[in-house]
Formats: sequence, C-alpha cells, structure tokens
Amino acid sequence: MNNWIKRGEKVVMKTYSQFPLVYKEGNGVVVKDDTGKEYIDFVSGIAVNCLGYNNKKYNTAVINQFSKFNHCSNLYWNKPSIEVAEILTKNSDLDKVFYCNSGAESNEAAIKLARKYAKKFKNEECVEIISMKQSFHGRTIAAITATGQTKYQKGLSPLLPGIKYAEFNNFESVEKLVTKKTCAVIIEPIQGEGGIIPAEKEFLQNVRKLCSKENIVLVFDEVQCGVGRTGELFAYQYYDVVPDIVTLAKGLGAGLPIGAMLAKDKIANGFEPGDHASTFGGNPVVCSGSKVVLNELLNNGLLQHIKEVGKYLNDNLKKLQLNHSCITNVRGIGLMQGIEINCNIKDIVTNAMKNGLLIVGAGNNVIRFVPPLIITKDEINKAITILDDLL
Ligand SMILES: Cc1ncc(COP(=O)(O)O)c(C=O)c1O
Repeated sequence: MNNWIKRGEKVVMKTYSQFPLVYKEGNGVVVKDDTGKEYIDFVSGIAVNCLGYNNKKYNTAVINQFSKFNHCSNLYWNKPSIEVAEILTKNSDLDKVFYCNSGAESNEAAIKLARKYAKKFKNEECVEIISMKQSFHGRTIAAITATGQTKYQKGLSPLLPGIKYAEFNNFESVEKLVTKKTCAVIIEPIQGEGGIIPAEKEFLQNVRKLCSKENIVLVFDEVQCGVGRTGELFAYQYYDVVPDIVTLAKGLGAGLPIGAMLAKDKIANGFEPGDHASTFGGNPVVCSGSKVVLNELLNNGLLQHIKEVGKYLNDNLKKLQLNHSCITNVRGIGLMQGIEINCNIKDIVTNAMKNGLLIVGAGNNVIRFVPPLIITKDEINKAITILDDLL
C-alpha cells in the first residue's frame, strides 16, 4: 500500500471510503498522482474545480490578494467580497448575499432565514419546511434533515423538527404537504447526489406559483448545479423559474471554500444584525478567485462553451448507450450529466481509474460526469474511448 495512504489511515477519521490515489498536481483537466500516473478528471473535486487546475488567471488573482491580506473578519469590509456580491446580484434576480464556507452552511443559512422571515412577517407557528425525496443538502443537522435520504440520517436522531418530504417532480405531493405552518420549500433544480435527476420545468413552475400564492419561501439549492454548470450562471435561469433564495458553494470558489446564500430583499429583511454570521464568510482570497470564475463565465465565453460541450458530452454518452446495453438511461443538463447503469458501479469507477479516467457515482446506479467547465471535445472523446473499452 502507498505509504501516504498508510499514514492517512492511521490519523484521518474514516468518514470516506477513499480510492487509493494520492494527488500530486493538476494542470487543466488532467491530474497526476504521486506515482506520476495521469488521469482525465470528470469529477473535478465533485463539481468544484470548474476552471480545472493551475489556471493562471485564478492563481494570479488569489496569490495577489493573499500577499495583501488573507482575512479581515466581517467586522470590516473587504473589496473582493463586495465585488462578487455585486456580480452575483447584477446577474440574477436576487438582491443580497450572505457568505459562508460550504454548501451545507449556505443551506443552513437559507433554513434560518426562511424561518426568521416567516416568524417575523407571517406568524410564530410558521416553521415547516418541505424538502424532496432523494435530495441532498449537506451534513449539518439542519441540512441532513432537509436531505431526503434516510441513509444519511441514521444514528443522528433527534433530527430537526418540522421538515417534510415530497416526491421530486410531483407537484400534487408538494401541494398535499402545505399547511398554514409551511415557511419554505427547498429544491435542487437538478438533484446531484440523488442521481443526476433534472427537475421538470412544469414542476418548478407550479411550485413557484404555489409558493407565491401562499407566501412560502422558495429555496433553490444550486450548490452542485449552479455557477455555470447548466450553461447558465444559475440553474434557475435555465428553467426560467425564479426562487426567493438560491444557495451556492462548490464551483463558486473553484477549489477554495466558499458558500453563498442569495435572497430577494423582501426575504433578506428577515435577518437583522446579529441574527447570523460566519467568521470566514466572504474571505477576500476566496472571493478574488470567485471573481475570476464569474468573469470567465460571464465575459469570456465560458457559459457558451459549457452549452456546446455539454451537448457534445450528452450526445456521446447516448452513442455509448447504443453500444452497451448496461447503460439504461442518459440524462443531464450542460456539464452535469449522468448515465444510469445496471452493472456494478464500483467496478466501473475503479477500472476507469486504472485506465486514467476519474468518474464518480451518484444515487444507487448512476455514474456522474461533472468535469471542469473548461473541458474540451477532445478530452471528452478520450474519456468516452476509455469508457467504451472498459464497458
Ligand atoms: C446540492 C448540494 N447541496 C449541498 C451540498 C453540501 O455541500 P458541502 O459539502 O460543501 O457542505 C452538496 C454537496 O455535495 C450538494 O450537492
């Protein structure tokens, strides 16, 4: 066994089943391990490294800010966090940003804000949250309770009271759960961990109408599907259904930790100074990197590129399906694609790794493709060839 893995297993808490691969370095969409072996990366740190590795503009921005000051707390202002909030609000229907450090924290913030808003502007009893089955919202107690998969909740009871679960893409099942006490509905526009399942537009439209009618806060968790992955800056823009709160993380930092909760002014008024906080939220170094990500997406053609190569990836996965009966479905939007398969996923992921391709499972029977957003058609061809051979 690799000596580093031996050392890691002794001292790092076993919360992951890790693959026997120790990262050494990366360049573009290619990762090298500590033996020098190269891999095309279709995982990108689970939809995080959206600019790939060693991106010069990103590195320069981060290093420049790092050498000025790397933290100042939210007792004071820092310019990069203001600039990123300006870009996010200018290019969305949301008005205010709260910064934190991860996806779970951004959902935690959304749940707190929705409850604060409802208690302040509706009534004290208004605390219930409707989430979707098969969803994933993170690992804090509130986020794991909102996660509609019991396997993640085992051994953690008592969970947060007041969360109910509806069927994803089934409007009637959401409608049935609404009561006078409902304060929020939380939905991933494309379920990620649940198995790359895109919402149906009509479902989101109907939930939007219902939430508007009942003054219920509609939260879209775009932690995995946001920040350009669909070919639009926000996944809600792909669907043309505007939520009241959007949560982001992962790709927004492109490898450095950040979370952001965006809300409409009306909802953001639920928070007053002191109601919520995060020591590291809006860190200037991370936000300098985020500014580069947003600039690439909005001003340097990256969104258009994602639309093109996303379709190319989907087309090629469909062609692969024609040759391999174990692929039972191909689905996804932009560079968030999945194939449903009826053979052993672990074997496929392990063999792909041996053959120089990093992929990751989602749900029970799906292989997920969430490469860096800069991936080219050539690199997609290489990955498809590896998969074709091993399937
Ligand atoms: C949709 C969604 N929400 C929330 C999270 C949690 O994010 P984090 O691991 O940064 O807390 C994830 C992570 O996979 C996610 O996919």
